[in-house]
Amino acid sequence: MAAPKYKILFVSSELYPLVKTGGLGDVSGSLPKALKSLHQDIRVLIPAYPSAVEKAASVKTVATINLPKAGFPGNMGFSSDIAQTPYATILETKLPGSHVKVWMVEFSIYNRSGGPYQDDQGNEWIDNEKRFALLNYIAVEIAMGYTSLNWHADIVHCNDWQTGLIAALLFEEKKQNNLLTRPATIFTIHNMAHMGIYSKGQFQALQLSPSLWNHHELEFHDDFSFIKGGLVFSDRVNAVSPTYAEEIQTEEFGYGMAGLLRHRSKRLSGIINGIDMKEWDPVNDPMIEQNYSPKNITDKYANKIALQNHFKLPLTRSDGKEILLLGLVARLVYQKGVDLLLEQMEAILELPVQIVILGSGDLELESRLKQWSLKHPEQLQIQIGYDEKLSHIIEAGADAFLMPSLFEPCGLNQLYSLRYGTIPIVRDTGGLADTVVNSSKRNIRNRTATGIIFHEANHITLFDAIHHTYELFQDKKTWKEIMLRGMKQEFSWRESAKQYLHLYEQAIEDRDDED
Ligand code: ADP
Ligand code: GLC
Repeated sequence: MAAPKYKILFVSSELYPLVKTGGLGDVSGSLPKALKSLHQDIRVLIPAYPSAVEKAASVKTVATINLPKAGFPGNMGFSSDIAQTPYATILETKLPGSHVKVWMVEFSIYNRSGGPYQDDQGNEWIDNEKRFALLNYIAVEIAMGYTSLNWHADIVHCNDWQTGLIAALLFEEKKQNNLLTRPATIFTIHNMAHMGIYSKGQFQALQLSPSLWNHHELEFHDDFSFIKGGLVFSDRVNAVSPTYAEEIQTEEFGYGMAGLLRHRSKRLSGIINGIDMKEWDPVNDPMIEQNYSPKNITDKYANKIALQNHFKLPLTRSDGKEILLLGLVARLVYQKGVDLLLEQMEAILELPVQIVILGSGDLELESRLKQWSLKHPEQLQIQIGYDEKLSHIIEAGADAFLMPSLFEPCGLNQLYSLRYGTIPIVRDTGGLADTVVNSSKRNIRNRTATGIIFHEANHITLFDAIHHTYELFQDKKTWKEIMLRGMKQEFSWRESAKQYLHLYEQAIEDRDDED
């Protein structure tokens, strides 16, 4: 039987290649394409950040949405902005390299240079609650079919806190207007650590329905939380890996919402992310020095030399032997386990290894890493900033890839690493645990090993993992077997997209059981 064809509104604050700060951008830029290839009618909705509009091709205006008349409760505290422009504009483009339609909400509060969440100096925009509440209101208008776009949604697929109010608003919309039905809602948790918490005053300024202010709904310890709206009101909730779906139901990873998640556990599941197999393909990647495949794996070596040259690192050990090169590309934040690495840096650098790091984030972590690099320039190099091309060069050039994350909802870099024959060194958490098989003696014998996993989040176990990697690297035959096995793993979006289709079906079935 052919799968049903749904009208899906996929709402996100990031969309690669138009706007990306991390994995959410990658997922938003690739899952909709996979759903489209499964014959779904999918539209992606993002804010019209000027830098995103600049990168988009053939942009046209397709609708205007009159704000005060659009059924918004009050004017969402936008009075002064609305006085100037009483409507938002919907711009349309295509997701590059696909036929997926993208709608971008244009309004004065998005019209600034800087990132989606922060200004150029790294300060959070002071009105993020308004910026994302507006995105949520517009999503509801479109999903309900209230706009001149001549389209309505069967499913609204929301992602992370920036879209957390949508399910709550759709629920209210149905209740207040005594409607028979509403679009079904899915909320995907990419990261529980970001919950979109704002004050009661901000809740009131947004003129959200006062009935939502209670601790079963949006209220969260005298403040309110966007993500709670998604967790409470969505017909189905999923995390981006099965292990993370379990972890967030514990106090350690649930950030005060573990009880709520346990309460909704029948509606909660995990679906592992896929990767964009065209974007991350060592055989055809135009950003790397030398393309390679499992059949000519020795060609990968040219990428190692290019990477060492980029960072002005010696090509070999002083005794002329090959040196193990470790890569790390990440937002440099607590989540990514950079502290663990720093704590053990002295001991790690006593091993004959080199480490290259690309990232930006926490200024203190950046500066501590830079200090180590100044002390050991022949072993540790760091580039602060965001650089898409260099991230590909590191994936292709490093021998092994470091992801000592304290928690990792899914993680994409370990998947890119596997595809590039770059052995991932990961902590046993979230999606890392679900996608990497440890190179224990037994798994090497059974021919299942694909990476190195360590368990406890402490520096000793990280050191042991790197030491183990160093030892394995000396055994070229086994190392090559592990590389090749990783390269053959299947992480395309197709299977996960099918699981999302199933989730949509379940959301539609469940939508009227309001529990
Ligand atoms: P998260 O979403 O938590 O940051 P993921 O592993 O899911 O972690 O995805 C991170 C994505 O962002 C990957 O595509 C990674 O290559 C990219 N990335 C992170 N930091 C940088 C950077 N400084 N330069 C280029 N790409 C980066
Ligand atoms: C989040 C998580 C990361 C995940 C990404 C995409 O940013 O930190 O683990 O891979 O979202 O789902």
